Amino acid sequence: MSTLTSTAKIIAVGGGKGGIGKSIVSVNLAVGMALAGHNVVLVDTDFGASNLHALLGINNPKCGFQDFFSTEGVSPEKLLLNTGIDNLKFVSGAGDNPGSANISQDCIQIVIDFIKNLQADVIVLDMGPGTNFNVIDFFNMSNPGIVLSTPEMTSVMKTFSFIRASLFRSINQQFSDNPELQKMVDHSNPMQADMETYTVSLLKKKLAEIAPEKIADVDRAVKNFNPSLIINRARNRKDIHVGDNLIRLVKKYLNVQVKYLGYIIESDRVRDSVDEMIPFLIKDPQSKPSENIQRIISSLTQTDLHLVKQDGNIFVSKQVRLGSGWNA
Ligand SMILES: Nc1ncnc2c1ncn2[C@@H]1O[C@H](COP(=O)(O)OP(=O)(O)OP(=O)(O)O)[C@@H](O)[C@H]1O
Ligand SMILES: [Mg+2]
Repeated sequence: MSTLTSTAKIIAVGGGKGGIGKSIVSVNLAVGMALAGHNVVLVDTDFGASNLHALLGINNPKCGFQDFFSTEGVSPEKLLLNTGIDNLKFVSGAGDNPGSANISQDCIQIVIDFIKNLQADVIVLDMGPGTNFNVIDFFNMSNPGIVLSTPEMTSVMKTFSFIRASLFRSINQQFSDNPELQKMVDHSNPMQADMETYTVSLLKKKLAEIAPEKIADVDRAVKNFNPSLIINRARNRKDIHVGDNLIRLVKKYLNVQVKYLGYIIESDRVRDSVDEMIPFLIKDPQSKPSENIQRIISSLTQTDLHLVKQDGNIFVSKQVRLGSGWNA
């Protein structure tokens, strides 16, 4: 592995709630971008319950992060597994070493360094559920970070909390020289509070009294925090508009502008693809959920992308650049 720091786009897919489709979306985004010609590495950062390999049709990954952490260790190159799909490599969160969700901060740093050194065009991080540091620290290293929600209120609220926890974590890190201020921006508080009691403007009001010179740091952290949103399992127009409402709430209480990347419909094709261990984009690139994913990739990369399947092979039938580069 090169010691050069990678210039790859790092796309994390998070969202707080479990079972909302983070892994499915990560896999299909990674596959779609690989088919479009980008050199992609898909990384499983869900150490507690890594199952991403199964969605790629890999039964037992021969090596994973848990081996990387073990005392014998393995070289970083060995972690990069072939997927059978051109341009797509995979790094598993699993391994022979019995793992747990509560990996140490040292292990998180090892994984962050590993990711930063990967040589690729795009790195897609599939994240576990929750808002612990071992989840949001991966989200905060990404650009763009994608949050996922289903249209259900419980998922929307968890996604809001996920965005707030990630934002406050990044503000908190601006104050590393001042433990008192760090306590004030403790990430555990925003998790407990409802929307109105822990907002960016309240934080700035408190800071104005005790450390007004730090307000600019908060403004900078907020300005640099630009998550994107996907609504998964949409069944109708109303479900799609749930995304607009979430964006309004985040703007109102956190001053953060979220970009709406698109939606994926509720579809049996998605569930079938899980049972068959084949990403739905590969099974049928012209199905509805596959078209949804291609629109999302188009929006991310500012390219009009269309994939077709003929005689079992997938082709790019159209790839037209719409902008000057990535939309993030
Ligand atoms: N668009 C969809 N249409 C139909 N079913 C879906 C859709 N998206 C997800 N599912 C269902 O939800 C299940 C969970 O998806 P997935 O494993 O990607 O969630 P997750 O957010 O990664 O969960 P975890 O937090 O446990 O990692 C899938 O196995 C599938 O059955
Ligand atoms: Mg998952």
